[in-house]
Amino acid sequence: MSGEIMGVLGESGSGKSTLAVSLVQLLPSNGEISRGAVHFEGKDLLCAKPDELQQIRGRRISLIFQEPSLALHPTMRAGEQVRQVLAAHSSPGKSALHQRTQQVFAEVFPEDADRISHSYPHQLSGGQRQRVLIAQAIACGPSVVIADEPTASLDPATQMEILAVFRTLRERLGLAMIFITHNPALLSGFADRVLVLYGGQVVECGPAEAVLRSPRHPYTKALFESIPAVSQERGNGRKMKLPVILGDSSRLSWPRVGCPFEPRCRERMNICTEREPALVNLSDSHAASCFKYES
Ligand SMILES: Nc1ncnc2c1ncn2[C@@H]1O[C@H](COP(=O)(O)OP(=O)(O)OP(=O)(O)O)[C@@H](O)[C@H]1O
Ligand SMILES: [Mg+2]
Repeated sequence: MSGEIMGVLGESGSGKSTLAVSLVQLLPSNGEISRGAVHFEGKDLLCAKPDELQQIRGRRISLIFQEPSLALHPTMRAGEQVRQVLAAHSSPGKSALHQRTQQVFAEVFPEDADRISHSYPHQLSGGQRQRVLIAQAIACGPSVVIADEPTASLDPATQMEILAVFRTLRERLGLAMIFITHNPALLSGFADRVLVLYGGQVVECGPAEAVLRSPRHPYTKALFESIPAVSQERGNGRKMKLPVILGDSSRLSWPRVGCPFEPRCRERMNICTEREPALVNLSDSHAASCFKYES
């Protein structure tokens, strides 16, 4: 939805990056989308022609990839890297290009735009480099940015700064975001909606507050119990031993029968190995894919 921040949550290997690239059809050539649809501005992107997709990617939907250190050219100034993104998607005159680059830098570096724009990546901090990637992502005025773990390599204070940048951009530009993370704590007070993935499948989705405070899928519940204080209220400073989710997700195979979480689930039933559970509506906006809720 326009201006909405959707948090996508899941452990390593749960399919977060696969979902991100599938949305804009950038799966590797041996990958195939077997079902589903991607509705964007009245179109199903899975049915879009290659040249239509070319118009949408980068311009209307942009991606911030997972490895910030690999995403910037090491011997090119930050400003030039943003200018090249603009030039690749439109052909304005030289001065319009320069003006737009300055404008974009001013959005993400309100205090130091000029100096950063003339710097090489190695002269910038991790947080500043991440902001240059954000500048590239918003350069062409997209309506959606998909950010794949954009704060994963940053310290907690810088992570909060980057979240604040995204929040400001949403307010100023009405930008919608798909924010991918393995850290539920980042989504509290930031995301509007949360989607939880396990084994390449959506196991739960709903308003952030409902999912983070009252998770319903056994995986989401176990995940939140195994980390300190997901919602602000739970952190009361007491020392406690955290439970673990036994087993691991690395032996999942595709295709498979049954619920992907069944081997590790404390609440498993016989039916869980027989077929894949459907996403069941628990309320108008909250859904979970678990047989517990199928009537
Ligand atoms: N829906 C799916 N169907 C088939 N294979 C999938 C699906 N989702 C993910 N995979 C496979 O699982 C592997 C891990 O997926 P992916 O890289 O998307 O995980 P991730 O959640 O981004 O992990 P990380 O947190 O480590 O970045 C990939 O090799 C991918 O091909
Ligand atoms: Mg990933």
